Amino acid sequence: MDNAYAPYSGFRVGAALLGEDGSIAVGCNVENASYPAGLCAERAAVASAVAQGVRKFSGVVIATEAELPTPPCGICRQVLMEFAPDLAVLSVTRSGAEAQWSMSDLLPKAFTPTSLGRR
Ligand code: THU
Repeated sequence: MDNAYAPYSGFRVGAALLGEDGSIAVGCNVENASYPAGLCAERAAVASAVAQGVRKFSGVVIATEAELPTPPCGICRQVLMEFAPDLAVLSVTRSGAEAQWSMSDLLPKAFTPTSLGRR
């Protein structure tokens, strides 16, 4: 979160993705002058983990400075679901508030690789 590049929204986000192998991949939001080109922290963490050869995850922690713990956005839910339908999603704030969800809470009836008829 401290390394987030969020000059436009001022909303800094960090994500730490725990691999089943015990590895931790981190990400932060990286905004852009062309606003839609910005990247969320969760997807940055997924990209980092996959680039390190890790594709199986057991949990993600999302950190913000918001008043209340924030869940991942819809696009990030879809990306997390691709790799980890059983992921534990924990959201924490700078002030110490916490909330936790399962992926099925966040994205019920998901479109997944199985929906394509692949394994
Ligand atoms: N953001 C994230 O990084 N993760 C989320 O799940 C929600 C939103 C970022 C995107 C943008 O840089 C800023 O927070 C405000 O939406």
